[in-house]
Amino acid sequence: FERYRAFEQVKLENRSWPNKTITQAPIWCSVDLRDGNQALIEPMDTTRKKKMFNLLVEMGFKEIEVGFPSASQTDFDFLRMLIEKDMIPDDVTIQVLTQAREHLIRRTFESIQGAKSAIVHLYNSTSELQRRVVFREDKQGIIDIAVKGAELIKELIPTVPGTKIIHQYSPESFTGTELPFARDICEAVMDVWEASPENKVILNLPATVEMSTPNVHADQIEWFCANIKNRDSVIISLHPHNDRGTGIAATELGLLAGADRVEGTLFGNGERTGNVDLVTLAVNMMTQGVDPKLDISDINRIKDTAEYCNQLPVHPRHPWVGELVYTAFSGSHQDAIKKGMTALKASNEDLWEVPYLPIDPQDIGRSYEAIIRINSQSGKGGVAYIMQTDYHMELPKALQVDFSKRIQHIAETTGKEITPEVIWETFDESYLRW
Ligand code: KIV
Ligand code: ZN
Repeated sequence: FERYRAFEQVKLENRSWPNKTITQAPIWCSVDLRDGNQALIEPMDTTRKKKMFNLLVEMGFKEIEVGFPSASQTDFDFLRMLIEKDMIPDDVTIQVLTQAREHLIRRTFESIQGAKSAIVHLYNSTSELQRRVVFREDKQGIIDIAVKGAELIKELIPTVPGTKIIHQYSPESFTGTELPFARDICEAVMDVWEASPENKVILNLPATVEMSTPNVHADQIEWFCANIKNRDSVIISLHPHNDRGTGIAATELGLLAGADRVEGTLFGNGERTGNVDLVTLAVNMMTQGVDPKLDISDINRIKDTAEYCNQLPVHPRHPWVGELVYTAFSGSHQDAIKKGMTALKASNEDLWEVPYLPIDPQDIGRSYEAIIRINSQSGKGGVAYIMQTDYHMELPKALQVDFSKRIQHIAETTGKEITPEVIWETFDESYLRW
């Protein structure tokens, strides 16, 4: 990750006051199999769930929300299969979501029988709007729902001997909740579960609907971290959605504001505009010289598997992974990239510094080959680059100008992209066959 320290240098040189930066990866939790799955047109069957689970394990996720087993028989059966077929690695903890309702909590405990460890994720909604419109309860009524749920979970622990239970509570719609009330309800739940530094409780603070600019989200997280009692007894977790399209920024600022953990999905699948995209967050971290602690070295495989499991395409311009993101169409970009690549080859440094290419595509398993495509907007640099890389020919300056005009003419008359093969044929016809 050292090779991206150029970003760091730019930041340092431009700053006029101390910047805070993310210096380490958070605890990651994938909710692809729950929040992601519940938003699919065609929810995953067992084959797709298994593929997704295995991918997440291979990528290095240590916490995976595998479903809402009390609400879905498919989720229940899938979890039973994972446990009974011993498919959960020892260092991976499965997470199960449950509403704070008695029969759902009891069924959740049936679903985790025999697991080595499990995060039981209790939630109820706390925002002013949900209290008034959906639950028609006052604040005390909402606290009672959470506390009763927490008490039942505590009571049921002896029914799963041999399973290490980790407690998680989400005040759903946290970002629409008055902060002191969010703190009070979380503290009431912490008391039931006897949170301590040895028995940390995960407090997950969802932006169930993204309602504000990322800085306001970060202010909410900062306030919560500063005002919750016994900060060392809790893990503060973010669960951003992306309604305003600023889920990534909200998460990064939320981490800077003091959060320890992030829940999200691959490429941002999830309800409405999705959950926060964990792959983008991980690559973003890499570009700042920070080890994301997730294996993103073969990003195309991650994309192909996610597309298969979700039956949803990833956009060609999706950050870091889209089919087109390492492709330069315009001549000036192509020329600058060519110069950057040449300078890089000539230097002994591993530092990545190529204009218009913020990362070395190879670091995430993409290749240089598709970077330069030639169409009617390409300049002489792009054509010369193809001749150099594909045909090992260095064209003199004057020839570059003449040849690129011919290529541009073909591109303009056909309106199509020009392949390296056509470039070579044109070169051959124009200059070699006489
Ligand atoms: O977005 C949300 O609030 C959720 C909770 C159930 C954690 O998915
Ligand atoms: Zn959610």
